[in-house]
Amino acid sequence: MTGRPIIIDTDPGVDDAIAILLALASPELDILGICAVAGNVPLAATRVNARRVCELARRTDIPVFAGCSRPMLRDQIYGKYSGESGLGGTLLPDPSMPEQDGHAVDFLSRTLLSAARGERDKVTVCTLGPLTNLAVALAMRPEIAGGIEAIVAMGGAFRVLGNRSPSAEYNILADPHSARIVFHSGAPITLAPLDMTFQALATPARVDHIRDLGTPVARAAAELITYYDRNDPERYGAIGGPLHDPTVIAWLLETGMFSGRNAWVGVDCEGPLTFGHTVVDWWGKRGAANNAHVLTDVDAERFFGLLTDRLGRL
Ligand code: BDR
Ligand code: CA
Repeated sequence: MTGRPIIIDTDPGVDDAIAILLALASPELDILGICAVAGNVPLAATRVNARRVCELARRTDIPVFAGCSRPMLRDQIYGKYSGESGLGGTLLPDPSMPEQDGHAVDFLSRTLLSAARGERDKVTVCTLGPLTNLAVALAMRPEIAGGIEAIVAMGGAFRVLGNRSPSAEYNILADPHSARIVFHSGAPITLAPLDMTFQALATPARVDHIRDLGTPVARAAAELITYYDRNDPERYGAIGGPLHDPTVIAWLLETGMFSGRNAWVGVDCEGPLTFGHTVVDWWGKRGAANNAHVLTDVDAERFFGLLTDRLGRL
């Protein structure tokens, strides 16, 4: 049995690295490629970090492409929680596996177009960073939406408000215009917003379970997650940092540990105070068709159980 075909579009990024490891450890998924984008750190770092993580998992067979180095329209903002390198203080060696020739946008476009034409199975696109690569691909060839089985995107914030501005989540705030293009592309979208990811809290006990696996990958993962620790119990309800991006991969593996609901979601690209805010129409006030499935809750024990089990396989 071959796995579900996915493309991971990412800005590694500490929690991106854990998400990539979770995907690499999961035979249910067939990773067609990893696309790097500027986000947590500049593209110069994310394109290297993606390969560092593949090499950590001894998966040098995964094609890694470099994508967009800046957002579509707005001035560039980088992340705040992944350190200068993007991988915290974790020293993963420089990769020896080559980057693929060609641009990530071309890879997305070519792969999704062939799926839209029925030449291959439709593809699930997992976005873990700003949505620039996918938005550029969709702007160039809107018909590629027909080749997308699902977009599963870490992004947005609703009731819990923002993590980078009072009301905006970082991945959306970093490129709201691209988010708007993707959200209204017609492709089916599942959103993993802060409302849900704040529940995926990497408490010291959960990180210890990962470290105790004792393998090089598990030790590196525990070190990465520890760097990411936000330690803001007043906000999260306990000690530890929320592990955002791996929830996207977990949703593909065990959808039943999540709950959510369908809604219309839009992005504010104009408001001086709410720029990048994701607006969800829970009660259908706009009368517009739903364009997203918004995840609201995760069973955190199950999530960390899955993550620990899978990391132990690498
Ligand atoms: C998102 O922003 C980045 O810092 C993380 O990698 C995650 O994708 C959380 O807001
Ligand atoms: Ca990310």
